[in-house]
Amino acid sequence: MCGIVGITGKRVALPVLLRGLQKLEYRGYDSAGVYVNDSAAKQEFFFKEKGRVEQLEALVADKDIHGNTGIAHTRWATHGIPSAHNSHPHVSASGRFFLVHNGVIENFRELKETYLQGVEFKSETDTEVAVQLVAKLVEQDGLTVAEAFRKVLTLIGAGSYAFVLIDNQNPDVLYVARNKSPLLLGLGEDFTVVTSDAAAMLEYTHDFMSLDDGEMAIIKGTDIEVVNPDGQKIEHEPFTIEIDAAETDKGIYPYYMLKEIEEQPNVIRTLMKQYLDDKNQAKIDDQIIAELKNADRIYIVAAGTSYHASLIGKRMFEKIANRPTQVEIASEFAYDSYIPETNPFFVFLSQSGETADSREVLQMIAAKGFKSLTLTNVPNSTLAREATYALPLLAGPEIAVASTKAYTAQITVLAFLAQAMADNKVSVAHPLAAIAVAMEAILQDKDHYEALAQDYLVDASSAFYIGRANDAELALEAALKLKEISYVHTEGFAAGELKHGTLALIEDNTPVIGLITQPKTAELTRSNLAETQARGAHTLIIAADQVAHPEDQIVLPSVDSANDDSVVVDQLAILLATIPVQLLSYYTSLGRGLDVDRPRNLAKSVTVQ
Ligand code: F6R
Repeated sequence: MCGIVGITGKRVALPVLLRGLQKLEYRGYDSAGVYVNDSAAKQEFFFKEKGRVEQLEALVADKDIHGNTGIAHTRWATHGIPSAHNSHPHVSASGRFFLVHNGVIENFRELKETYLQGVEFKSETDTEVAVQLVAKLVEQDGLTVAEAFRKVLTLIGAGSYAFVLIDNQNPDVLYVARNKSPLLLGLGEDFTVVTSDAAAMLEYTHDFMSLDDGEMAIIKGTDIEVVNPDGQKIEHEPFTIEIDAAETDKGIYPYYMLKEIEEQPNVIRTLMKQYLDDKNQAKIDDQIIAELKNADRIYIVAAGTSYHASLIGKRMFEKIANRPTQVEIASEFAYDSYIPETNPFFVFLSQSGETADSREVLQMIAAKGFKSLTLTNVPNSTLAREATYALPLLAGPEIAVASTKAYTAQITVLAFLAQAMADNKVSVAHPLAAIAVAMEAILQDKDHYEALAQDYLVDASSAFYIGRANDAELALEAALKLKEISYVHTEGFAAGELKHGTLALIEDNTPVIGLITQPKTAELTRSNLAETQARGAHTLIIAADQVAHPEDQIVLPSVDSANDDSVVVDQLAILLATIPVQLLSYYTSLGRGLDVDRPRNLAKSVTVQ
């Protein structure tokens, strides 16, 4: 949430900052702002605008902005409404210090009352307190800027921040710090960039350095000095990110979401190459598998869509590998946990690897001495670095706010873990390969989904997805996908539960979508759908080939499974049903004239609690 970018060195700042903001916009799009300083010309440029990055771009388009140092920000509002005055950068009352921030300063009111009585504030944000406090400590108390910045970090304490500060009396220097919010330094030949996400800067560099919590860096051109919270200088090894910058573009697609939906068959294939050997045996670090097998309970911890993938993971771990598994919502478990086992093992599932709720749990269980594995799409992310082990999801950059390919990648990697824990006695290889081909067949038929979305969902005010067993778990994800990008109020339900209360909400024409991939419960779900239909519901069925009826609106392509283990096939069947529910969401959002990739109020990579 919130994207920040900064640059110092010998490169013209504005284009890099604006490009960075475009690429970081998925992290928030309530407002945007930029500050550039040309030290040679002794000129500075400062613009902020409510709304999207393109509105800021329009604002600066006809301005002659030059200079090699600058900072920029795209905001997801936490404190203070989205508006120009609450946008970043924030500036001290003296006009000397400029600051961008991603995170939440929890004690900002206390700091304001204690240290900043009488200072005139221009915004309602927590961030402005930090920049005014730096200014006070320098201008009134005589501290150096580095000392003042360090003191402010100490006073903020446990708050979360990624900060970039500029002092216009020494304008080629960036003062940078992070705690709990992501921040990377990008290392160019004659410049350094600072960014919330490496993907935003891949056009300029592939070499990065990370900072750990509480660390601060002072950067001038390519000179970087990093100090830890005790004030000691430390070195961090740079690392290289191999992703091609083109992977972060939309290419021919109108929206990232459609591109990412279509990438799913290849994501599965890429993962098979990475995680299976030529005999289709799982190829995963023995130590990870031993930890999983020796645990007296496996906990999978995640949020949102990743939580929904975890629910499928639990079923696979239990049904395929016979390992007791518990799934926990990160934001709940961080503050209300019961872990009676002596040797539990924790799996963190996170597309971004930066989700603050999940990180809180990771820190909590690490403090108890428990080991963990992070499955993430961002290999150098915080959760990957801080867990005992990490495995990549290899889905490629996921930019649309609504997660699609990361969900299928998570389920696929969990399937490999289940196979490995089952001593490779079962194989997920053939069903997965068949599913990838079948997904492609569904993707050939997008017009059908567009028509169904138009017919069932575009004009709906509320909708339901129902199913049993794995289909009930997919119903949760399907409902989230639909509501987050179309704003149709949607609930996902275990089909048998409807009659215990929720059936009261069914009215004439309420869309109720039945997910039917599980042979054992197929007819029961059909009965539950019939109950809604009898009360006026507009029912739609997505059914696996072997349990389909001729009148079903969506019949998934056959996945020939004659020689496959039926337990494995049933567990993986929802992967195929995922494509129709994603397409229905996409076309509903499109049909309602919404911005599919950037739904209101949301942001990708949720780094606040
Ligand atoms: C919804 C969505 C979110 C994320 C959630 C966790 O489409 O993407 O629900 O799944 O914010 O994010 P990660 O997986 O990055 O930890």
